[in-house]
Amino acid sequence: MSLAELDDHALDQLFRQARTAHAFRPDPLPQGTLQRLFELAQWGPTAFNAQPARYVFVTSPAGKARLLSCVSPGNVAQTEAAPLTVIVAYDLQFFEALPTLFPAYDAAPLYRHNAVLAEQTAQRNSTLQGAYLLLAARALGLDAGPMSGFDAARLDQAFFPEGKVKSNFLINLGVAQQAAAFPRGVRLSFEQVVRVE
Ligand SMILES: Cc1cc2nc3c(=O)[nH]c(=O)nc-3n(C[C@H](O)[C@H](O)[C@H](O)COP(=O)(O)O)c2cc1C
Repeated sequence: MSLAELDDHALDQLFRQARTAHAFRPDPLPQGTLQRLFELAQWGPTAFNAQPARYVFVTSPAGKARLLSCVSPGNVAQTEAAPLTVIVAYDLQFFEALPTLFPAYDAAPLYRHNAVLAEQTAQRNSTLQGAYLLLAARALGLDAGPMSGFDAARLDQAFFPEGKVKSNFLINLGVAQQAAAFPRGVRLSFEQVVRVE
């Protein structure tokens, strides 16, 4: 099957016109949005198909209250307003599922005996999975606000007290309240960041 290029409207929505949201309308998300987000994002690739990301979809007032006590002051209002905040985390023991997820090769021992490699792999791939989720949200017509401004030790204690799962970053999702508050930041040029060899 050959792939067709998406039209300009889709490329604008996913990339060129999409802005990071810092304020959200209070409207709840349409029924089924959490499942639809996951259903799309799950297809993004990960090393050995290991899918180390674990998610907490925080929507309830009680969940939000616990989360707000962990985010930095500048992130409180936006996190409170977003109808959904996703905690993108990773499972340090992700490799135990590899026999099912990647039966073609027994990769689990690579990680079982190397905690540093296991954590690097979990971080790298869960970051990618969070980015797939962010783009899935844009594809579904939602605005996203990724955040790394939070107290990770405190959040992990509040949401993952068993110690096997660690937080990576947060994504507020919903419909942006207003046009972006700041002008679009310049992007580094092709010449500045790409070397073609
Ligand atoms: C991993 C990550 C962490 C971020 N952390 C925060 C944050 O803690 N608080 C915040 O207000 N914005 C945060 N941002 C938003 C960025 O500043 C924003 O995405 C960037 O300036 C690009 O903005 P634009 O999409 O409107 O062009 C973060 C973005 C990313 C990708």
